[in-house]
Amino acid sequence: MKSPIILGIESSCDDTSAAVIQGSTILSNVIASQKVHQKYGGVVPELASRAHQQNIVPVIQTAISEAKIRQKDLDAIAYTIGPGLLGSLLVGSSFAKSLAIALDVPLIEVNHMQAHIFAHFIKDANDEAPEFPFLCLTVSGGHTQVVLLKSYTDLEVIGETRDDAAGEAFDKIGKIMGLKYPAGPEIDRLAKEGNPNAFKFTKPKVDGYDYSFSGLKTGVMNFLNQQQQKNPNFIQENLNDLCASVQHTITDMCLEKLYLAAEDLGIKSLALAGGVSANSELRHKLNLKTEEGYKVFIPKFEYTTDNAAMIAIVGKIKYENEQFGELTSKSQARFKL
Ligand code: KG4
Ligand code: ZN
Repeated sequence: MKSPIILGIESSCDDTSAAVIQGSTILSNVIASQKVHQKYGGVVPELASRAHQQNIVPVIQTAISEAKIRQKDLDAIAYTIGPGLLGSLLVGSSFAKSLAIALDVPLIEVNHMQAHIFAHFIKDANDEAPEFPFLCLTVSGGHTQVVLLKSYTDLEVIGETRDDAAGEAFDKIGKIMGLKYPAGPEIDRLAKEGNPNAFKFTKPKVDGYDYSFSGLKTGVMNFLNQQQQKNPNFIQENLNDLCASVQHTITDMCLEKLYLAAEDLGIKSLALAGGVSANSELRHKLNLKTEEGYKVFIPKFEYTTDNAAMIAIVGKIKYENEQFGELTSKSQARFKL
């Protein structure tokens, strides 16, 4: 039997993306990132939906032509139903439903957070796909979760943030330091020339496998305000060391809970997912865990930040299990795993 060809559509935040998958092989993965938000220091929902409307048709057309298929070759349409910004989600969902009706093919609803994790099952995402059971640290601009996966359908969030997400911490602290949105990649770049132990920031104590990042943000802000009063150029003069110290603290906080869960549950396979998993220090530190007998799974960069290839791979797995969606389903701004 020929492997199904599935179109994935992602529009949950500020990236409009479309990808075509055949089996587990990605044939195309096109992403239009929205620059319009940079001057506001964060995503402006109203502007995001408008940009999705402008981008969605050309992005999908390009994904289909780059995949060297015809529209009528598509066996199903998979799209992000949530979580995300409602206006943004509605653009992707309306388009996906219309295309599914026009082509008379099934529609598949995809949870964005599940998709970040399932990016690991894309054929060229890593050397080998993780085997169940494994623990995944999913760190993005909107979420920070430790997820226990026992099978494709048995996923349990065992820890999550009580306030800001790890990516949000990078972006908000970066904003305080005068960096452009999203500050995460910029902090990563500047940290390479800095000393991670130059400044010590207090890590909040949180029970179990849960996280809290808002206290860190306030701590850094208060520290910078005090220093700037003494020396108005403090941030510029110490930017590399500040970035390295912040990054060191956030990455340690992320990993401490993952390691605690791994020890408690006796799980030896650890995976990373979501936009913040593009962070070089986080990747490096987790990789060191292999020396302690852990198996570590880190996806290729292009499958870490928001992309439609990850939506398409969930589409493929759900297609095989005949888990199809409804034309009347509503997009869900909040949507649990
Ligand atoms: O998964 P994602 O693309 O979108 C959401 O679903 O939120 O994640 C975006 C987040 C942003 O907060 C961005 O600053 C962060 O991922 N990010 C990084 C890096 N690359 C992206 N954070 C730290 N270091 C990076 N290299
Ligand atoms: Zn995401």
